Amino acid sequence: MKLKYLIVAVMCALFTVGAHAQKFEGLALTPPMGWNSWNKFRMNINETLIREIADAMVSTGLRDAGYIYLNLDDGWQSTERDPNGFVQPDPKGFPSGMRAVGDYIHSKGLDFGIYSDAGRKTCGGRAGSSGHEYQDALTYAQFGVDYLKYDWCATDNLNPKGAYILMRDALYAAGRPIVFSMCEWGKSQPWTWAQEVSHLWRTSGDIGPYFDSVAYRNKKGWHPLSVLDIIDINAPLRKYAGPGHWNDPDMLEVGNGLPVNEDRAHFTMWCMMAAPLILGNDIRTMSRETLDILTNREAIAIDQDSLGVQGLRLMSQDGLEVWFKPLVHNDWAVCFFNRTEKPIDYTVDWNLPGFSFTDDVSGRSTLLNSAAYKIRDLWKKQDAGTTERPMKIKVPARDVILYRLTLKNPN
Ligand code: GLA
Repeated sequence: MKLKYLIVAVMCALFTVGAHAQKFEGLALTPPMGWNSWNKFRMNINETLIREIADAMVSTGLRDAGYIYLNLDDGWQSTERDPNGFVQPDPKGFPSGMRAVGDYIHSKGLDFGIYSDAGRKTCGGRAGSSGHEYQDALTYAQFGVDYLKYDWCATDNLNPKGAYILMRDALYAAGRPIVFSMCEWGKSQPWTWAQEVSHLWRTSGDIGPYFDSVAYRNKKGWHPLSVLDIIDINAPLRKYAGPGHWNDPDMLEVGNGLPVNEDRAHFTMWCMMAAPLILGNDIRTMSRETLDILTNREAIAIDQDSLGVQGLRLMSQDGLEVWFKPLVHNDWAVCFFNRTEKPIDYTVDWNLPGFSFTDDVSGRSTLLNSAAYKIRDLWKKQDAGTTERPMKIKVPARDVILYRLTLKNPN
């Protein structure tokens, strides 16, 4: 008899959890924007640095441009858990504890992000969450966390879908709305199954501060990927992205040593791909040029457009690509992207049959063969005529020209 009751109780509990567990909806209706410690600082993070970054996010205007999340990556936690299994901050780097770090971040009008791993250990060898998912989710809620990046090292034979659903459910049960960012590098094609699980999923291996793969073409073993590599991995996945569930082509390397044209192209392509814009540079000491790229509000508006459609690579010839991204109010972003090391001259004939098409992902049509659009150059920050006549452009080497098209006579 008792056993029967027990079985019923367990089944009810399972049913209840199953019926209600879900991801938090409405948290990432546009791609998340913020900063993350990994690309620049690796494991060398501490609470002084994080406070300085928080201050810089405000003083540079990044926060007001939309970069809201301040995310700590690997290295905030100790290698071992405490005797009760609770994850502990690295005592050297974070003597005041994570709640204090979170309070400081929140006091600046920012949101607090943290990092863990579905396996035994993080990629940097710190304590992973395997076997402690519910305990960790509660701990993060107590810290005041708003965003969790969840990695995939030391996962042995774990099933990715099961492991990520487990943490999603743990976060949901803990009750504090937390953006859930999956980082399993695209291995199990999360775009095909993670829409109900997370708000964003990595589509590739780690980015490095490279425009192309020349630096590591002949290198054996692990190496980071270049901007071009990642664009080519991420571009075909556009139909899987949308409000609340984004393809994540990894964090930005803008300001980490690439020339300004390559930084601009990298940033622009992330905007065209509706990618999360998570900065990865030292924003305390960045140049004016870097800040100008990162705070170009008209470019950011392409990324953050509320239609939430990842851009389409419409044409590609001899290293020149033409990308289109549908926007609200029948606007379009159009990007001419030169992947090569030489400038390319091109005559844009807006009446070209290929430019009049219906996008099968969004159902939006360009009306270029029947209506005129005004053209705004988003990097020159000036109007550039209309689509009524062809225009000659010169796309500099490894750079972009980014336009926003707006119907001349909307009705
Ligand atoms: C993996 C992730 C990176 C970073 C490191 C931390 O490589 O893909 O983005 O989080 O782990 O160790």
